[in-house]
Amino acid sequence: MSKLEIETGVVVAENLDSVEAPVTWRTYAMCVFASFGGIFFGYDSGYIGGVQGMDFFIHMISGPDAKELLSWQSSLIVSILSAGTFCGALMAGDLADFFGRRFTIILGSAVFIVGVILQTASAGLALLVAGRAVAGLGVGFVSAIIILYMSEIAPKKVRGAIVSGYQFCITIGLLLAACVSYGTENLENSGSYRIPIGLQMLWALILGVGLMFLPESPRYFIKKGKVEEARKALGRVRGQDPNSHHIEAELSEIRANHEYEKRMTPETGYIGSWLLCFSGSVGLASSNVRKTLLGISLQMMQQWTGVNFVFYYSTIFLKGTGAVSNPFLMSLIFTLVNVLSTPLSFWLVERFGRRSMLLWGAIGMTICEFIVAVIGVTVGFNHTHMEGELTIANNISAVNAQIAFIAIYIFFFATTWGPGAWVLIGEIFPLSIRSRGVALSTASNWFWNFIIGYITPYLVGTEHANMQSSVFFLWGSLCALCIVYAYFLVPETKGLTLEQVDQMLDEVSPRKSAAWKPTTTFAGREEKQTTA
Ligand code: BGC
Repeated sequence: MSKLEIETGVVVAENLDSVEAPVTWRTYAMCVFASFGGIFFGYDSGYIGGVQGMDFFIHMISGPDAKELLSWQSSLIVSILSAGTFCGALMAGDLADFFGRRFTIILGSAVFIVGVILQTASAGLALLVAGRAVAGLGVGFVSAIIILYMSEIAPKKVRGAIVSGYQFCITIGLLLAACVSYGTENLENSGSYRIPIGLQMLWALILGVGLMFLPESPRYFIKKGKVEEARKALGRVRGQDPNSHHIEAELSEIRANHEYEKRMTPETGYIGSWLLCFSGSVGLASSNVRKTLLGISLQMMQQWTGVNFVFYYSTIFLKGTGAVSNPFLMSLIFTLVNVLSTPLSFWLVERFGRRSMLLWGAIGMTICEFIVAVIGVTVGFNHTHMEGELTIANNISAVNAQIAFIAIYIFFFATTWGPGAWVLIGEIFPLSIRSRGVALSTASNWFWNFIIGYITPYLVGTEHANMQSSVFFLWGSLCALCIVYAYFLVPETKGLTLEQVDQMLDEVSPRKSAAWKPTTTFAGREEKQTTA
C-alpha cells in the first residue's frame, strides 16, 4: 500500500487493468450455472405452442368435439404468461435492491414452482390460466435478475460471453420444449400436457437450490453500504482471499464509483428512486433517462426483428404454404439452427464487440427477410389456391428457398441480437438504477413479445390482413430500423468494467465509444478528492 492509501483508506488499482481481481475457474463455473435461468425462459415460452395443438388438451378446454381452441382461449392462455412475466420483471428490480439479487432469483424459482403445480393440477381453463399467471411472475423475477446478477459477478473480459450463455440456455429451453411436446402430443391422457408442464419444475429446482450455494453480488452489498459483506462476496466470486490486495483494489473501485454516483444523485424516497431512472436530458447519452430508454428500446427492437414470428407461428405459416410435408419438423429445424448458432456469439461478442455485432446482425437479418418477402411476391404463390403442377413445383422450390433464408435469418439473430440485447442491458446502467433499469428493459422484452404474439395471427390470418409471406416486408423494414438504431444509439461496452462503462458513457457518444479507453480509475479520482 502507498502512504497515500494508508492515510485515505482507499486502495487504488496500480493500473487500469487491475481494477478487477484475477479470476479462477470457480468464477466461470458460477456464471455458467447462473445462465441456467435461461432454460426457464425458453422452455416456458416454447411448450405452450405444442400443448395447444394436442387433442386431449383441446377437448379438455373446448369440449369433446372441438378441433382447436377458441381464439379467446388460446389468446388468454398464451398472453397471461407475458402479463405475469411483465409484472414479475417490473417488481423484480425492487426486490433485488431490497432483498438481494440471489434471494430474488430463489424466490422467483419458488413462485414459478407454485405456478407450475397449479398448471399441472389443472383440468380446466381457470386453474391453468391462474397457474400461468403465477408461473409468469416467477419467470419475470428470474429473467430480469439473472441478467443483473451475471453482469455484476462476471469478469469484464468474458462478461459478454457469459451473458450470451444465458441466451444459449434460452435456445436450449425452446428446443427442449419443442421435443418434449412432440414426444407427448399423441398421448390420449392428461400426461400429454401434464408431462411437458410439470417437467419445468426440474429447472426451477436446479436453479433455486444451486443459487443457495452461490454468493450474493458484491455490488448489491456495496449499494446497501455493507462493505465487509461485499468484500467476502467478492472474495468468493473471484476465488481470492477477501483481504488480498486484488480484492481490495476491485472493491475500492466499485465503492468509489458508487460514492461518485451517490454524490451526483439526490437522496429520494421510493417514488423518487423510480423517477431517478428517467432523470436527466434525453439529448445526453450519459443521462439516466437515455440509459433507461436505451435498455427498453434495445429489447423492443430485439422483438421487432420478428424472431418470435418464426418461433411461435412458423408451423402454421409453413402449413399454409401447402408445400411442406412436415411443418413441425421444419420449425424444429429453425429451433435447432438457433441452438447451434448461438455459441458463435460467445466469441463474436468479445472479439468484435456489442456494437458491431448488432449492426452486422441487423444488416444480415434485413437482407434475409426481404429476400423471403420478395420470393413470396415474385413467385407469386398463393397459400390457399394452388393450381396446376407447375405452380405447385414453383411453390415447393420457392418455399424451400424461403425456408433456407429464414434459417439464415435465425443464424444472424442467434449470433447477434439474441444475446446482444441481454448483454447490453446488464452493462449500461449505473449501480444506482441498475436493478430497475434491467427490470424495465426485461419487462419491455415481455411486453413486445406479447404484442407481437397477439397481433401476428391478425397479420397473417386469411380472414384478416392475410399478408402471408409479405409479413416479412414488415419484419425486414423493422430490422432496417435496427441498423439505424445500432449505428446511432448503441455504445461499445466490450472489455470495460461496469464502472468504466459509466465513465465512457459520460465522455463519448455511442458512435465514438468503440475507440474509448479508460484513463483514470474512480478510486483514483476519489483519492484526489480526499487529499485535495
Ligand atoms: C428473445 C426471445 C426469443 C429467443 C429466441 C431471446 O433473446 O428475447 O423472445 O424467443 O431469444 O432464441
